[in-house]
Amino acid sequence: MSQDEDKRLAALAAAAEVEDGMLVGLGTGSTAAFLIDELARRAGEGLRIEAVATSLASERQAIAGGLTVRPFDEVAAIDLCIDGADEIDGACIAIKGAGAAMTREKIVAAAARRMVVIADGSKQVASLGENFPVPVEVLPFARAFVAHRLTALGGTPVLRLRDGAEWRTDQNNPILDTRFGAIADPLALARALSCIPGVVGHGLFVDEVDAAYVARDGIVSRIERPGAPAAPKA
Ligand code: 5RP
Repeated sequence: MSQDEDKRLAALAAAAEVEDGMLVGLGTGSTAAFLIDELARRAGEGLRIEAVATSLASERQAIAGGLTVRPFDEVAAIDLCIDGADEIDGACIAIKGAGAAMTREKIVAAAARRMVVIADGSKQVASLGENFPVPVEVLPFARAFVAHRLTALGGTPVLRLRDGAEWRTDQNNPILDTRFGAIADPLALARALSCIPGVVGHGLFVDEVDAAYVARDGIVSRIERPGAPAAPKA
């Protein structure tokens, strides 16, 4: 079973939570792309949903697939958000943002009555920070200052590049990918990152994720965060 097939299976499992009448948050990345394809397919068969997107790329894919995408600046709450992750632990704490969309992703996740991560088994970790840095989106004006503060917190920030040039998010901000090693206290780190002036957003999701569908070798498991709603509330 390929990694892509596991991504697709996780996406299909989460897509089964989507029902007529829902306003759905569409994640970003290769796993979320399978979700968008599946929702577009079901919409073609009569599923009536509206969507908001966490990135311009996902918005383009959704519109091309025939989904109705509402501008998020006119939306305060959504029913369900489904998105990928770069790492997720057993308590549904996640690192996101390899696709550079973590700021919008966190806002849409926070607006969702239920937020579900979809991932292949390689994303499941015992300890966050093992494989991925925490992406930190910064105002260009504050780049050096924020890098200094991240270093003081014990991190190793590296400016994200693409084709040798500074990577910019959909908000036109740079990203400092910051390695902290295994993160012992994700909540404390998330709070510390959020408090640095000039930080626009970061990819440490401590309490946004309610559940995860993780597929490994073709078998999908669902992890529910203790105390999270089992389904979107009316
Ligand atoms: C984008 C993200 C993605 O959801 C995350 O990087 C997972 O991507 P993929 O499904 O391609 O592995 O956080 O900002």
